[in-house]
Amino acid sequence: MKTPDTPSRFPDNFSKAMIFLLAALFLGVALAVPFYYETQTMWYKTGADRIMLRAGQMAGLFALVLLTGQLLLASRVGLFEHLYGRTRLLRWHQANGVIIFCAVCSHVLLVLAPEGFDNLPIGKKYWPEMIGGVLFLLLFVMVVTSRFRSWFGLEYARWRMLHKPLGYLCLVLAFLHVRFVSESFARGLPRTVLIAVGIGLALFIGLVQVLRRTPGRAQSGPQP
Ligand code: HEM
Ligand code: HEM
Repeated sequence: MKTPDTPSRFPDNFSKAMIFLLAALFLGVALAVPFYYETQTMWYKTGADRIMLRAGQMAGLFALVLLTGQLLLASRVGLFEHLYGRTRLLRWHQANGVIIFCAVCSHVLLVLAPEGFDNLPIGKKYWPEMIGGVLFLLLFVMVVTSRFRSWFGLEYARWRMLHKPLGYLCLVLAFLHVRFVSESFARGLPRTVLIAVGIGLALFIGLVQVLRRTPGRAQSGPQP
């Protein structure tokens, strides 16, 4: 594992270009899923409703990809810190948090609008949508308590104690929501890739956390 003080085998610009290409590829593949693995919900939609649902699906996938990036930005991966520096990573994390919430707001509006706001997916049968609802509220709390921490008079240590576990819970809820709410991810390659990415991310972040506890690594980052 690359640490800030050991020289990298690849020139930094090459590593940065590789990371950018991988991120762009991941986003491109995710946004293509609704087109290649169309949901039955699209079959009965025409005109504006069809465009709204499609846009809503893509906004949801955009939020999901940014959410995976959000945790990579915050979990202090040695290579990223070496290439971009901790302060810049955190600035991107802070800005990305707000972008995620905006993407999720448009997802919810665009997915629910075609069905009508008088027909909200509430009830036992709609547990996957309701997980989405809990996730929506959690993201709102995360962004507002981070952006306006001093306004709420929240001490940094107390804020961090809340922010970190809620952040990881958001990722788990997002993967659960997507796996069970969308037919695109109910079977076949999209389901396999979604589960593999979820498990891979959990293992990677787990490894980073363990390595972070190796002696000599600083524990907390600069305050927001
Ligand atoms: C009130 C909150 C939410 C509701 C009611 C909701 C509802 C839905 C519904 C009904 C679908 C299936 C759309 C279809 O294919 O017909 C869906 C898909 C999806 N949702 Fe949500 N959602 C919510 C929050 C979220 C949040 C917070 C995320 C953030 C990551 C998210 C990410 C996704 C993704 C990635 C899909 C799959 C898109 C696809 O079908 O291809 N949703 N959501
Ligand atoms: C979508 C919403 C967000 C999610 C899911 C999220 C998730 C996380 C997670 C999981 C961590 C802990 C990483 C670790 O140490 O292992 C973290 C750290 C952090 N987040 Fe967020 N975050 C979000 C939004 C924000 C926003 C909007 C801000 C600031 C305005 C912010 C500021 C920070 C800071 C400063 C840390 C570092 C804390 C420290 O290590 O001392 N986050 N975030």
